[in-house]
Amino acid sequence: MPRRYPDIRSLLEQAHDTIDQWEASFGPFERHPTMSVDEERLGTALEEYLGRLTAPPADDGGNYPFFHPRYAGQMLKPPHPVAMAAYTAAMRINPNNHALDGGPPTGQMEKEVVRDVAAMFGLPDDHLGHLTGGGTMANLEALFVARELHPDKGIAYSADAHYTHSRMAHILRMEARAVSATPEGRIDLNALEDVLKTGDIGTVVLSATTTGLGAVDPIADALSLLRRYGVRLHVDAAYGGFFALLAHNGAEVSENEPLPLSGGGPRSGEGVTGSIPEFTARHFRAIAEADSVVIDPHKHGLQPYGCGCVLFRDSSVGRFYRHDSPYTYFTSEELHLGEISLECSRPGAAAGALWLALKCLPLEAEEGLGPILAAGLRAARRWAALIEASDVLELYTQPETDIVTYFPNAGTLSLVDAAGQSVFERGMADADDPVFLSTYRMDAERMVALHPHLEADRPHARILRSVLMKPEHEAFVDRLHARVASLARSATS
Ligand SMILES: Cc1ncc(COP(=O)(O)O)c(C=O)c1O
Repeated sequence: MPRRYPDIRSLLEQAHDTIDQWEASFGPFERHPTMSVDEERLGTALEEYLGRLTAPPADDGGNYPFFHPRYAGQMLKPPHPVAMAAYTAAMRINPNNHALDGGPPTGQMEKEVVRDVAAMFGLPDDHLGHLTGGGTMANLEALFVARELHPDKGIAYSADAHYTHSRMAHILRMEARAVSATPEGRIDLNALEDVLKTGDIGTVVLSATTTGLGAVDPIADALSLLRRYGVRLHVDAAYGGFFALLAHNGAEVSENEPLPLSGGGPRSGEGVTGSIPEFTARHFRAIAEADSVVIDPHKHGLQPYGCGCVLFRDSSVGRFYRHDSPYTYFTSEELHLGEISLECSRPGAAAGALWLALKCLPLEAEEGLGPILAAGLRAARRWAALIEASDVLELYTQPETDIVTYFPNAGTLSLVDAAGQSVFERGMADADDPVFLSTYRMDAERMVALHPHLEADRPHARILRSVLMKPEHEAFVDRLHARVASLARSATS
């Protein structure tokens, strides 16, 4: 069958037509007059609304063009049109996946997609899991279960883990220990062992990948350590979880094999093929051993915001969620998702959108989501190679997935910081050829460890960071590089 990028208007039309017919099948009724709106007021307000949404970015306070490959800043991109159409159709019905009374079809779809995501990680069939409002909520649930299992113990995570872990530990009144990270951004296993020796830790959080540097914690290498200390493993794969598709043995997403590794990290130019280098791939495969995992379909799963997911290896942890509801849970004896989640109301539309998107773009290495992620990997490796060959930009570290970190070539941290900030600001401000990046604050010690020529004349420096999470970045990355290099040249000259 021919493949094409779906036209959102015709998808929406089909969705609206079908829901119109479904509504009509229940017979006519009058809309209440209180629900009508003044047409003039609507016209004016809608114009203002759309105007505010589409105002020019930066100084004018408008949105950045998250859809465009010249946006290479944060983890942001619009959902796939298939997800938009599915979401819109379900939103008109507005099922609530709290209980099956709230909408059996999307409740069922949620169970199906959660099963597929768990299978992608290689978790056992009898896992427990559900969708959540996002990664924060999903991590909160995983840490809540961690606390219930070890009420007297705390959690440990890398200093580079997402800030949500320390915040959630605070909310849960759990002791939280941040363990130092290597200059490349991976948790330091020796430092972790020192923390585990105290006997105070019940669960260790490892990230796949980290939000800032895009590093993957050494999950496979940590397993025996965690077992030795009888400690649980929670993997925060909110951002990078779908890369597991490209990490399974035999996953071939291009004609070339990645180069073998000599150790220490992915090598320069390695993996230009779009497969995950074995150095990193084994840690994604080791997620199969985790006690709990979080993944955000609203990041790499082509979904609109409001779609996270938490998975537990041992379904008996469902007991910690047990509660009664006199209002719901009465239409069937089957599991109501609200019985195993902390949130009450949740959009059935989120489950429906993920379900349809994964039907069209399945969780596979060689079709569907796999090749989409592979293009981002290739874009990141290509940009890293261009930066390495550049005299005005320096690569902070080799990208492990699709996040590239770099900085303008300068002698001191003050100069690096100022030039980086200038590239960041001037890139956005240029109306003719804008480029949208993000910055990341690095501590001097780690910067200098990887780049000993830098003089540490201040404790921190901002480096530049680009999340290449759109497959379209692959064809655009040479232009991105040329633009950023030219901005860096004028910032450092
Ligand atoms: C690794 C990681 N964990 C957790 C979160 C928080 O997820 P959310 O923003 O969906 O609440 C993020 C967000 O960027 C993340 O990158």
